[in-house]
Amino acid sequence: MKGVVLAGGLGTRLWPLTKVINKHLLPVGPYPMIYYPIGMLVDAGIGDLMIVTGGNNAGMFLELLGNGCEFGLEHINYTHQATPAGIADALKLVEHFVNRERFVVILGDNVIGGSIREHVEGFARQERGAKVLLAKVDDPSDTGVAVLDDAGRVTKIVEKPKERISDHAVIGVYMYDELVWDILPELRPSGRGELEITDVNNAYLERGLLTADVLACDWGDAGRSPDYLFEASIIARRNKLLSHFELLRRGAG
Ligand code: G1P
Repeated sequence: MKGVVLAGGLGTRLWPLTKVINKHLLPVGPYPMIYYPIGMLVDAGIGDLMIVTGGNNAGMFLELLGNGCEFGLEHINYTHQATPAGIADALKLVEHFVNRERFVVILGDNVIGGSIREHVEGFARQERGAKVLLAKVDDPSDTGVAVLDDAGRVTKIVEKPKERISDHAVIGVYMYDELVWDILPELRPSGRGELEITDVNNAYLERGLLTADVLACDWGDAGRSPDYLFEASIIARRNKLLSHFELLRRGAG
């Protein structure tokens, strides 16, 4: 399985923190934000990674991460999203890298107070399709929101609904099989002018090929607002995230 971390965009919701710095380089707890999604993938046994960057300081990711030796990796792949046209648009840039394998995509501003390993293993056992992860939250207004039936199955996903329809946010960790390459060309830009990842997930749902797991641990969306950025630091510290990685053993950071 391959891994993709999306770390482009302009991070306008965090202005002026992101006026000159890429959001994913900002500090979360003791590390730059992007360490967490990379750590999640490596912890889940995925070491073949591509970082999609863009916006400010795109070149700094290479300086910061190099070949990923702090994560025990020998190599990291990089690509560049020239215009921030949405998460689903960024996926088109990794098609050659993923090469029809299954893959896990993580949004570079998502911090999880635990491991995604069991969910990735569950997806590996799934015959085909996609898997999304859900988190029960107090305020789902600025996320993709999943409506569940009595059996806990997802019946629909709505991107940033105006009214409260459920308290299950769809977090920024997505697992796809090769069908995604047929779905992407069918997408049309949303009201905010982006190709929405929610439309990809709903396309899987319509085909009966979407599974969803509810996270048992904290979830933080560090890019949503300065308050959420702060909260992500608390999640990171409280859960001692990344402490098992070599970068700490070597006293780096
Ligand atoms: C994106 C997705 C949304 C998801 C969220 C998770 O929102 O569009 O469905 O719930 O990430 O972080 P964005 O951060 O692009 O507004």
